[in-house]
This record gives sequence, C-alpha cells and structure tokens, in this order.
Amino acid sequence: MPESAVAPLACNGRLKPGLRGLFAGLSGKLLLLTVIFIMLAEVLIFVPSISTMRLRWLQDRLNTAAAAGIVIDGLQASDLPRGLQDDTLVATGTRAIVLRKDGTSRLLAATDMPNAVDGQYNLAETTSWGSMCDALGTLLFGGNRIIRVYGPIGDSSMTIELVMSDASLRRAMLTYSGNMLAVSVLISLITATLIFFAINRLLIRPIRRLTLSMQDFSEQPEDPARIMVAEPGRDELALAGLHLAAMQSHLQHTLKQQKNLADLGLAVSKINHDMRNILASAQLMSDRLVDVDDPMVKRFAPKLLRTIDRAVGYTSEVLAYGQAAEAAPRRKPVSLAALVQEVRELLAIEAETGIEFVELVSAELVVDADGEQLFRIVHNLCRNAHQALLAPRPAESSDPRRITVSAQRIGSVVSIDIDDTGPGMPAKARENLFSAFKGSARSGGTGLGLVIARELVLAHGGTIALAEKPGPGTLFRIEIPDRPVSLQDYRARA
Ligand SMILES: Nc1ncnc2c1ncn2[C@@H]1O[C@H](COP(=O)(O)OP(=O)(O)OP(=O)(O)O)[C@@H](O)[C@H]1O
Ligand SMILES: [Mg+2]
Repeated sequence: MPESAVAPLACNGRLKPGLRGLFAGLSGKLLLLTVIFIMLAEVLIFVPSISTMRLRWLQDRLNTAAAAGIVIDGLQASDLPRGLQDDTLVATGTRAIVLRKDGTSRLLAATDMPNAVDGQYNLAETTSWGSMCDALGTLLFGGNRIIRVYGPIGDSSMTIELVMSDASLRRAMLTYSGNMLAVSVLISLITATLIFFAINRLLIRPIRRLTLSMQDFSEQPEDPARIMVAEPGRDELALAGLHLAAMQSHLQHTLKQQKNLADLGLAVSKINHDMRNILASAQLMSDRLVDVDDPMVKRFAPKLLRTIDRAVGYTSEVLAYGQAAEAAPRRKPVSLAALVQEVRELLAIEAETGIEFVELVSAELVVDADGEQLFRIVHNLCRNAHQALLAPRPAESSDPRRITVSAQRIGSVVSIDIDDTGPGMPAKARENLFSAFKGSARSGGTGLGLVIARELVLAHGGTIALAEKPGPGTLFRIEIPDRPVSLQDYRARA
C-alpha cells in the first residue's frame, strides 16, 4: 500500500485528512495522555523537592547568622552599636538573632521585634512529612508571616535562633516552583514528542495499514490486488497483518467457490428446466407403447415409463431446490396410511427383488401436514431405503430385505420411523448428512433427497434424524408436531 494513502482516521471510520482527526485518532489521544501523565509525575516530584529547597534555604540563613553570632559573641561587648546590628540583620535577612549558650540566651541583634510569631521551626528535628506540609503551608498561605527558626551550630552545644518574615522565603520558593514548572513542561513535551513518534511508528501506522486494508478489501473482496501485503516482523501487529492477509485470501477463495457454485447452479437449473420439458414429451409418447401388442414392448414399457417418471420427478426436485425456498406448507389433516400406500405404489417394488414393504401405520392416524410435502418426505426416505436394499450384497447373506414404515402419535406429535435392513449409511453419506450435493454415496445419486426431506420437515416445525438401531440397516425418525391451536379457532370450532 502506498505510504501516501496513510491519512488520519476520522470518527466515522473513513479516512479524512485534516487536524480535526488528530485528537479523534489514537495518536492525538496518546500525545495528550503522555503530557498529562508526565505532568502528574512531576507534581509528585515537586512536593518533596520544594520542601528540601525550603529547608536548605532556612539552613543557609541559620549558618550565616551563626557565623556572625559567634563573632559578635566573641567581642564580649554588652551591646552591639545600632549600625552594626542593622547590618547584621540585613545580611541575614532577619529581625532578630539570638544565641543560646551554656543555658543563657543572648540577643545579638534585633529590630521591629514582633509581639508574637506565626510559626516555629526546629531545623534539627524535622520529619519529611512535616517539612513537606510546612513547605506547602508557606507556598499557599505565607508571605506575611513572622517565623522563628532555630537549630544547633555545627556539632557544638550552642543554638542559634532567628526571627524573620517568611516573605523572602516564599519569593525564593515561588521562583524555584516557576523554574521547576518550566523544566517539567519542557521535559514532558520532549518526552511526549519522542513517545508520540515511537508509538506512531510502531503502533499507529501498522494499525492504520490494517484498517485501510480491511476497508479496501471489503469494498471489492474479489480483487486479488486488495489482499493485504503483510510486513515482516514478529510483533503482535505483524502477526495480526499476517492473519488478516491469510483470512482475506481464504475469504476470497471461498467467495470465488461460492460464485462458481452459484453459476453452476444457475446453469444446471436452466438445463434441467428444458430437460424436464423434453422428458415430458417422451413421457407422452411412451404412454402409447402400452397399447402395442409386442410381448417384448409389453415387458419393457412399464419399466421405461417408470424410469421416465422418475427422471421427470428428479428434474422437478432439482428445480424446486434451485428456488430460494420451498412454498410454506399448507397444512391439513392427512391420513398417513393412505399416503404410505401411495409411496409404496410409486416405488413399484418388484416381487423378484424379494424386498418386503411393511406398513405399521394405523388407518386412523392423522398427521397435521401438507399432504404433498409429507409425501415427498416419506417418498425420498423410502426410495433411499429401496435403493440401498437393491445394492448387491454378499452371497451368503440371508437376512430379509425389508422396509418398515411405522408411526405413532404421542400427544400433539406424530413420530414416523422409516427403517430398512440394508447395508446402513456409508461413512461419506453420514459425514455429509443433509448437505446438498455432498452426501451422495450412490452412483447416479445427486445428494439432494435427504436435504429436500429435511427442509420440508423443518418447514413443518419438525425434526428428522438418523437414529441408532441395533441390527444392520438404517433408521430415519421424523417428528412432526401439530400446529398450535389458536384460542379463537378453538372457540369457533367449539
Ligand atoms: N436408507 C439408506 N441406507 C443406506 N444408505 C442411505 C440410505 N439413505 C440414504 N443413504 C445414503 O445417503 C446418501 C444421500 O442420500 P440422498 O437421498 O440425499 O441422495 P441420493 O439418494 O444419493 O440422491 P437423490 O438426490 O437422488 O436422492 C445416498 O447416496 C446413500 O448413500
Ligand atoms: Mg435419495
């Protein structure tokens, strides 16, 4: 697929160029999410680092004041001149400096001493959690507060204490936060861009290729040029591409096969249609043969007639199957015994074959079905049984050759068994049971009889199945339920 064909995906699934698609697509969402996640991570880093920065800032002030305090203390002068005090306070950024030593406190320098302080911090005893809370407190509420900060001077027993406004501390913290924010934004943008390109290259482009190929293929599935050319690789998307390409080829093959079958079906239907007309003429002509006195003709005429009849029936069945669907059954009460009798006559089992046709159907048994369709069902199954029994069998076999049709009504369902003592269903027929054109294991068979029977049974809301039986042979069981009676009809009849 040409690379130029790759364009951003829009919400409706079609490909449209333009920026609008960027945030509707995966790439835009990923870009946005990456920036958000990195900023979140930066916030988590920010709190501990601003707290460390604050502690360090205060410690620097304490250290400066401590250095000055030790020097002033060494001068032993009772009070420092005012000018020197002010210089010291400005240099340390404080309002008062107190030195504690050997249990006594000495106020080294002081100006504008406030009456009370807003917060006290011992730098020697800070916990991480406490200092994080203090830092956030200063950032959010500080700027106008007076604080007292104290801590030991180096390893000595002396303590230095400062009283100061937190305005400059807060200013320093705000500058630090601003710098940190700028660095975070820069880092997140650089990382997001790198991740964006990496993901785009590794995920989005292959996914787009898959999507495009699916669209392309679905527009014209019979065009071999539209089958995806899978890219080499071992990752999940490369495998998905391989599977998609395989699926597309398989689908194309199946479609081609289906089309060939449909064409073939149409051709067969056309030939069949005309053949049926020719056979109908042959049927008319052969009817006259019955009147010829020649004994040879007399012997063969009925067989010829039956053969032609079957050929006509067969062509009609193929035509009926070629239609989209069978007509819906027109159901009414049908006497099954009479129907089976008709089937028997049509089968015209010859005495010399030794095949018995046993009817175990009560004369009173009535089926709620379409008589014509039920006839076709029973006829197809009996014809199969007859054909199976006609097949040559081992000379030593002395089993009777018998077709038994039995039926019974259980509640609102009539169950019909068509049983024969033939060789049983061949494996090929069993495997393709009820599959059109596939199930025939008989020379000259089309493999439609069982399919048609099943379709007609299903149209009656019934079931047809090959049943297990102890001896040799085949047993088909059909169950046809009565139509449900509507309350209105019942009342009308009552
Ligand atoms: N009673 C049976 N005993 C043994 N084999 C059977 C029996 N009924 C069906 N078969 C097997 O099942 C296959 C499929 O039957 P089906 O009636 O669908 O097709 P067919 O008889 O071959 O052709 P047609 O469309 O002319 O009926 C048969 O070819 C036959 O081999
Ligand atoms: Mg058949």
